[in-house]
Amino acid sequence: MDNLSNDLETLDRAHMFHPSTHLAQFARGEAPSRIVTGGQGIYITDRDGKRSMDGFAGLYCVNIGYGRSEVANAIAEQAHKLAYYHAYVGHSNEPVIKLSERIVRKAGMGMSRVYYGLSGSDANETNIKLVWYYNNILGRPEKKKIISRQRGYHGSGVMTGSLTGLAAFHNAFDLPKPPVLHTSCPHAYWNAHEGESEAEFAQRCADELEALILAEGPDTVAAFIGEPAMGTGGLIPAPQGYWPAVQQVLAKYDILLIADEVVTAFGRTGQYFGSHTYDIKPDLITIAKGLTSAYLPLSGVIVGEKMWKVLEQGTDEMGPIGHGWTYSAHPVCAAAANANLDIVDGEDLTGNARNVGAYLQKRLHENFADHSMVGEVRGVGLMAALEFVADKGKKTRFEPSQTVGAKVSAACLEEGLIARAMPHGDILGFAPPLIISNEEVDQLVAMAKRAVDKVYGQL
Ligand SMILES: Cc1ncc(COP(=O)(O)O)c(C=O)c1O
Repeated sequence: MDNLSNDLETLDRAHMFHPSTHLAQFARGEAPSRIVTGGQGIYITDRDGKRSMDGFAGLYCVNIGYGRSEVANAIAEQAHKLAYYHAYVGHSNEPVIKLSERIVRKAGMGMSRVYYGLSGSDANETNIKLVWYYNNILGRPEKKKIISRQRGYHGSGVMTGSLTGLAAFHNAFDLPKPPVLHTSCPHAYWNAHEGESEAEFAQRCADELEALILAEGPDTVAAFIGEPAMGTGGLIPAPQGYWPAVQQVLAKYDILLIADEVVTAFGRTGQYFGSHTYDIKPDLITIAKGLTSAYLPLSGVIVGEKMWKVLEQGTDEMGPIGHGWTYSAHPVCAAAANANLDIVDGEDLTGNARNVGAYLQKRLHENFADHSMVGEVRGVGLMAALEFVADKGKKTRFEPSQTVGAKVSAACLEEGLIARAMPHGDILGFAPPLIISNEEVDQLVAMAKRAVDKVYGQL
């Protein structure tokens, strides 16, 4: 390490407020620092020259991998041509028009328009406002509650942090706020009753949702939000029959459905949208991450025809919609998205997620299903998880103080693999860039195996 590198770390610890970080330990120099300097393909490099396979694509967002000059060039070209102009009162730009047509066409499912933001959190804030506006315009001002799921993740703003169903995002922040409610997490491994089949469990989750709606009063419940397959809560694919049963309940009580596809859109589950994989017919879809592969920040809310008609009616009655961000429809971010989606489509990364994803799931099952410390191997497409348990037969968890998930993640890093210790329980998550090959999956699984065995040996 030279002096400059040392200085960078000192300056970082002294001045930078890192998200999702133990602030005190980091400031005291007790928690690790890593200054990332480069990325190519599915690898990142840090200032010490250490190269790691990124088995989580950043935060499941760098779907096309690092270092794609097509996107870098598109960003530079657009910045030279038109770096910015706002989209208020009907202003627009060429990249965002092309992008919107493309997203609506690819989504299908009766989608109509795209509203843009910069993060998954702000897009879900938009969703909540649109749901409330919709019911006010329809003359049902009491229909405002929004139901999400325990262990769902929808962001960390005030309302989106409330939608998130993970205590770590609520504690000491006075969240969740009403009118957000939480229903059961559809994770059969922990929540299914003894002897209950997957289909029975899925139906029970839908029944519990219905019971909550009835207890609250259907006239007060506006919307349900869910990730087609859960991400941050532990990479949990939807159980067989779950989405049809949930949609039946929502339709019965005229409750809108928001599909939060921040992780699943643009190929991750092996179809273009997670809603396609699970046959979900949403009213609103949240997109971010894979939209630009995080080369620049960009998010969106795709609004279905049914809601769009009411939004039009609202502005006929009340004038221009009172919702806008300065950076909405940013031309440079839209240019990045178009170049990114050209790669996703041109290289059929959705097909790759389907095929290589199936191979990843197979190799994880072969290597870990019988491992004494692994209670469950699960996943869909190119998202997967290993869940660690203290006693496999009795299904008991490790003591949280043992930090098994974090230890396995650290052991993976020593092997040269980034796999994420998920915030709930002892779960190791994988969501590599969608360009990953079968050979690279073999390397990923081999590194993960050595790491799991090492930690198991030390317990
Ligand atoms: C499903 C889902 N929704 C929303 C978000 C929030 O996105 P952001 O971190 O860009 O605000 C995330 C982030 O991981 C997510 O996974």
